[in-house]
Amino acid sequence: MIQINQNLAKRLTQEQIDILIKSVEEKNEIPIRVVYTQEYWDNIAKDSDYQLANREISALKNSMTKLAEQLGEKKINIIHLGVGNGLEIPMIINGIGAKNIANYSIVDVNPTMLEMSEKKLQQNFPEITTKKFLTDIETYGFKDVCKQTKKDGAEINIIFLIANGVLFSNDELVREIYNNLDENDYFFLTLELYQEGKDKEIIKPYLIPTVLDLLGNGIKLIGYEPKYEEFSAEIDKINHLLKIYYSPSNDKTKKLLVLHSYKPNVEQLNERMGNFGFVRVFCEEYSNIHTCAGLYTK
Ligand SMILES: C[S@@+](CC[C@H](N)C(=O)[O-])C[C@H]1O[C@@H](n2cnc3c(N)ncnc32)[C@H](O)[C@@H]1O
Repeated sequence: MIQINQNLAKRLTQEQIDILIKSVEEKNEIPIRVVYTQEYWDNIAKDSDYQLANREISALKNSMTKLAEQLGEKKINIIHLGVGNGLEIPMIINGIGAKNIANYSIVDVNPTMLEMSEKKLQQNFPEITTKKFLTDIETYGFKDVCKQTKKDGAEINIIFLIANGVLFSNDELVREIYNNLDENDYFFLTLELYQEGKDKEIIKPYLIPTVLDLLGNGIKLIGYEPKYEEFSAEIDKINHLLKIYYSPSNDKTKKLLVLHSYKPNVEQLNERMGNFGFVRVFCEEYSNIHTCAGLYTK
């Protein structure tokens, strides 16, 4: 029987709590959607040891010219999934050109982060219409977000998922992205890739204290007091997933999966995208930082 820490669970909906309980009971897994709070994420974002962010931000910057070339002078709307603190917003807008963007929808499960991103958009880009959606896209999907984004805006949506191999490891979410693309819409992705011989470098940012504090937030929800040494990491080369586990030192029979992040090589990524039905416009690999950026249609 799982004992939920009611005080910590106050910020969750009953549906999210039910998903947490079911996931722990049936899969020994803490769903990532229940762990994010602004304070924990902010500590990670400011942590110079979180090298993953630098690699993924470089991929975004490197790919902006190619994306802008592809779009030309088309007027578009943006749907930024898991926008967080909004670090990437100015890079995206400056890359595409503010004059080409009608509506910019920001979507996140965390209200504080969403507000920070909203402020950033309104203060720095008042000519663009900001639309804010506080929603758990893994539980509730985002069909309505796509519809609302086109209202009084451009006819083309681009869905952005940046630096989010965790969300992208969820097949249902990838299907949801595909299903929500209209004929002329696009999906833009940046992702860290797996590279032979780089296992340590890939795993390292996931085991730093600020990341383990965030993951510990989920563990605390089900009544444990996690210590850093109780977390471990592996790369599952069959399913192309980096996995982080928690195992309490006083009960080694228990092993909970607390994070999985999709880490394919570029061929495996292309195959998965094809299997879902996506059509590649481009996919650029930056092998020195083992990341890629891709633009897809339906
Ligand atoms: C790895 S962070 C990236 C944030 C952003 N790219 C940044 O650098 O600030 C992942 C983001 O996805 C959000 N997120 C995670 N699961 C979500 C879900 N199920 N629905 C909506 N947002 C989610 C988190 O709240 C967080 O802001």
